[in-house]
Order: sequence, then C-alpha cells, then structure tokens
Amino acid sequence: MTGPFPFPPAATEEILGWTSRRIASGPDPKHGAQAHAALDPVLGGSITEAGLGAEAAFRLFTETIVPSTRPFGHPTSLSFVASAPSRAALSFDAALGAAGIFAGNWDGGAGAIHAENQAIRWLADLAGWGPSAGGVFVAGGTLGNLSALHAAREWKARQAPRPDRWAVLCSSEAHSSIKAVARVMDVEVIEVEADATGRMTAEAAAARLTSAVFAVVANGGATNCGAVDDIAGLAELAERHGFWLHVDGAYGGAALADPALREAFDGIARAQSLIVDPHKWLFAPYDSCALVYADAGHGAAAHGQQAVYLDTVDKTHWNPSDYALHLTRRARGLPLWFSLAVHGTAAYAAAIGRTREIAEALAEGIAATEGLELILGPQLTVILFRPLGMGEEAMVAWAEGHRRSGALLCLPTRWRGEMVFRLCVVNPETDPEEVLAVLRSLVR
Ligand SMILES: Cc1ncc(COP(=O)(O)O)c(C=O)c1O
Repeated sequence: MTGPFPFPPAATEEILGWTSRRIASGPDPKHGAQAHAALDPVLGGSITEAGLGAEAAFRLFTETIVPSTRPFGHPTSLSFVASAPSRAALSFDAALGAAGIFAGNWDGGAGAIHAENQAIRWLADLAGWGPSAGGVFVAGGTLGNLSALHAAREWKARQAPRPDRWAVLCSSEAHSSIKAVARVMDVEVIEVEADATGRMTAEAAAARLTSAVFAVVANGGATNCGAVDDIAGLAELAERHGFWLHVDGAYGGAALADPALREAFDGIARAQSLIVDPHKWLFAPYDSCALVYADAGHGAAAHGQQAVYLDTVDKTHWNPSDYALHLTRRARGLPLWFSLAVHGTAAYAAAIGRTREIAEALAEGIAATEGLELILGPQLTVILFRPLGMGEEAMVAWAEGHRRSGALLCLPTRWRGEMVFRLCVVNPETDPEEVLAVLRSLVR
C-alpha cells in the first residue's frame, strides 16, 4: 500500500459488502432526518488533520449519515415523487462509480455515451420521434427544463424579432422549477389557470398567448395532482403560432411506456422536447434526467462550450456536453440503460402498469372508506384525498407519527387552498392493502 492514500483491500471489501447487503435489504423505513443538534456532535469535526481511518469514517456513514436520510426507495414512501431503483440499477451504479468514466464527450466516454443513447432512443421512440431525435442525461429535471428552454429560446430568436422580454407559458400546476428556470433566464412566466382536474387546456393557453412566448411547457404529469395537459391541443397551437412545445415529464414521462396511460400523451410526437427523470418512475437511482429533443440539432445549436484546451476534442462524434448546460458529467444515464438492458422494455411497461394498478386500488379503497373523501385521481399515479372532519394540525400529526414509525410516508399538500393528503406511487412493490390499513387509522 503505497501512495498518499493507503486504503487496505479489506476496507474496500467492507464497503462493497455493505453495498451488497443494502441493495438486497433496501432502506429502513424508520430512517429520517435528524436535527443539526443531533448530527453535529457526531459528524462535526470529522475532517481532521490525521484522518479517522477507513473503519471509523465508514461507520459514520452507516450509523449516522444513512439513518438520517429519508427512505425514499422504500415501498411505503408515497410522498413527493419517491424513487424505486431496481436492484440491477443500484448494483450497476456502484460499478459505474468505480469505472470512473468521463462522459462529457465521446473521447472520454464513447462506450458509455453510446449505451446511454440507447436509453435516450427508447424514450424518443416512446414519444414517436424520428431519427433526428437525441439528447443527454443531466442531473435532474430542473437542469433539464433549463437546458430545453434555453434551446427553445435560441431557436425562436433565430426566427423572430426579440421582444422586450421573452415569455414562457405554462400551467398554474407547472412544477416550481419552471419559475426557477425563468428567473435564471430572465423571462416572464405566463401562468394559465388549470381546470378542475389540474389540466391546462389548449383553449385556456390560447387565451393567454402573446407574441413574446417562445415556449409552452406542458405538464406530462403535474407533480401535485398528476394531470397531463392537453398536449395534442397545445401542439396544434404551437404549429399555428410558431412556439416550441416542451413536455415536462420529469415525473410522468415514464407513463409513455404503459400502453394504458400512453393515450394521455397524444400529440407528444409533435412536441420539440421532453424531460423524464429516471430517478422518479423509471427505477433508476439518483440522479438523472433524460433530456430529449425531437431534433437534437436544436439542442446542439444552443449548447456546447468552446475553449482552446478543448480544441482537440473530437467534434465528429456525439458529445453530450453539446446538448445541455454542463461539461464534465458522470454517465448518469447508464444505470437506466443497464436495468433496461437486463430486464427488457416489457418488464418496464409491466412495472409501470403495476404502479398504475396500485394507485387505482388505493383510490378505490379510499373512495370505499367511510370518513375518507377521494378528491382527485388517480391521475397517472397521484391521488388526493382527505379525512372528513379532521383539522390541519391533526393531519400533520398523523402524517408525522406514521412517518416516524416507518409505516407510511404520506404527507399533506394543498389542493385549491385546502390541506389534503397526497399519494404518489412509483414503486411496484407497494402493497395497497398495507397502505389502506394505515389510511383507515385516519377514521378510527
Ligand atoms: C414535473 C416535475 N418537473 C421538474 C421537476 C424537477 O426535477 P428535479 O427535482 O430532478 O430537478 C420535478 C421534481 O419533482 C417534477 O416533478
């Protein structure tokens, strides 16, 4: 063991052993955030001049860091948009880290990039896009939306006079990242009131269109309520008015793979870009977002970095850094590729279909339970409901109690100003009967 960082093989074995056991067991549902005051006495000061050594440092990870994180990968995690990585994807992710691949350009990561592009192609096929489609995996939906909307504005600016201020139009149910991206891009957001189910119609969008609009963002699964906007109507509007149609499918884009849900996305073949987060509903670990352009050339026209030290990079091949706002990148699409390659797309369709059935069973069970009111859903796999006669404080306390016990992560949200409970199913191993048994404690 030479060099400045001696690390015995036994320590590597220990980490790999823990990794392997963790992949088999999944997360502990009782885990959750701890306060700074609890963490600091243990983790504060863990960077020392002499170093703690492998055993002590790794123990901090297994005994303090991991238990103080939310078990999103557990089947009882039904809040926010959780995550349900397949064991294939998780195992492979560990190997990917070890491979140390630079996937910013073809020179650095050709094989990895070519494989990632197979997964991108699968998504492009699901959207109904032709051979000019292509894209890249970025860190998350926020960066995917930013990169797509930047490409959209560049595209529009090549064909239209610059207005005083560009605008992006989206639903009142659009994800918060759209407003965040608009702030970064310094563009106005025209927010169109969604209908009673949370869906933006083309008619409502048309009424708010202005000549400054360079892009419309359609929800391909609104985070809070699961609604899919009128993509076909918006595509028609886009063709008539010459704006870019971007589909934010960070959560819901996975539904394209389920024949029973595909219809909700009719018209997507006429959109210009799509994002889908594999770490949400495509059974991949954090963090990744597939950003796909119907015509990858529009992505390349907007992105990419030039520098003299990069002049030697082979520009004749597919360089992921040309399609989004990034340069160095991990091949973060590869765990999805591996899991797809191992299991096949039919298994993916079946697993997504299973989550739909679980959401349907939950909605039916809620509707059939006296004292619970089903408010909306399932739309894709999101359900909103409320316990009749329960105050907000009691709802929060109930949610917190069950989160702590590990029985269920079901947190409140708001719908039309009122506090309601929200469930979002992305895990095909969620047991609807087990969840319903917990929900019935709301009315006992
Ligand atoms: C519809 C939608 N868009 C965008 C995002 C942002 O994605 P990320 O958290 O990966 O940045 C989310 C995250 O939940 C989302 O649900």
